[in-house]
Amino acid sequence: MTNAVHDIRAQIAGISLENISTIAKQAFAPGSGILPLWFGESDLATAPFIGDAAHAAIRAGHTGYSNQNGIPELRDALCEYHNDLLGTAITPDRITVTNGGMPAIMLAIEMIVEKGDNVVVIDPVWPNIGGIVQIVGGEVRSVRMDDTASGWQLDLGRVAAACDGRTRAIFFASPGNPTGAMIPLSVQRELLEFARARGIWLLADEVYHRLVFGERCGPSILTIAEPEDRVLVINSFSKSWAMTGWRLGWLVHPASVGPTLAMLTQYTSSGTTTFLQHGAIAALRHGEDFVARMNAYCAAGADIVCSAFAAMPRVRMSARPKAAMYVFFEIDGMADSRAACLQILEKTQVGLAPGIFFGKGSERFMRICFARSPTVLADAMERLRPVFG
Ligand SMILES: Cc1ncc(COP(=O)(O)O)c(C=O)c1O
Repeated sequence: MTNAVHDIRAQIAGISLENISTIAKQAFAPGSGILPLWFGESDLATAPFIGDAAHAAIRAGHTGYSNQNGIPELRDALCEYHNDLLGTAITPDRITVTNGGMPAIMLAIEMIVEKGDNVVVIDPVWPNIGGIVQIVGGEVRSVRMDDTASGWQLDLGRVAAACDGRTRAIFFASPGNPTGAMIPLSVQRELLEFARARGIWLLADEVYHRLVFGERCGPSILTIAEPEDRVLVINSFSKSWAMTGWRLGWLVHPASVGPTLAMLTQYTSSGTTTFLQHGAIAALRHGEDFVARMNAYCAAGADIVCSAFAAMPRVRMSARPKAAMYVFFEIDGMADSRAACLQILEKTQVGLAPGIFFGKGSERFMRICFARSPTVLADAMERLRPVFG
């Protein structure tokens, strides 16, 4: 589906309008009995104490404009959160609150990428990253991780070879979407040294950082980077606190770019909803039990899907995911996963995301989200068994 509307910027007209949600909308009639496992979100609702804190903030009159980097109380809470979790010494001038992880990436790219610049993106990757780079007139250079028997591995030599004088940033998500793959701290350190030597920004997406199964968190570049390194860490309340609809995320950045991020925020959203930020403070200060529950919920979901897939001979998974909320897999004999996902939907009413959206080389793959109740996942596996078995 191309962008056929006339009189819009050529750069934007070239971007496909099709993504996971447009495919879902074609088929998604309320009450249709479809199991929607194509989106990356849990079926757990936000914990009531978080909603209560947001309601209390409305009643207390926190309904005015926000500070463009986020309200001071939330920035303080985010510093405490990171410093407790990671042993860092992050200060509030290094935090900007955003309207979700997606706008955090948008702000980062808007700040550093000019027309004609390129961004090296480690894939398979969530499709929205490339779209943002294109919107600002940049070029996406994909470096695909290798799908090995011991999991997805990053070849730093290929990352270096993809960079040139117009490379402004290297983007990686760890744990990644759709693979759950993690980039070990030793590899992140090498990447950091390379980026320092070349004056390239690192965009580190840690949205799934708390969903490393059985662990408190995954490896974070914040533990090895200096405060003024060219490093922007993207994070979000969406996944670990079940707050996708709240639209709340944050960036950890060098203090020196805080005023620039405030300026860019001014000209877009003008800030994040004030009373929701009070809900986020409650999530950070009292949400550790909930995050642990989400972690265990995803780990249990991964077990259900991986065990069922292991008994379906036509399914090929790479190594079992140890993090995030997805299995990325291929079906023997199904080359066009977009067409296959539509057929599977029609036959089984299970909604899967086609790999085509996750970068070149992923056309044969499909993604299933396992952050769902055991009952829903068991039902989905029963429906898929005759097609995948
Ligand atoms: C890797 C990655 N980064 C960022 C986001 C965006 O998160 P948010 O819902 O907070 O915008 C997602 C959402 O799926 C994601 O998978």
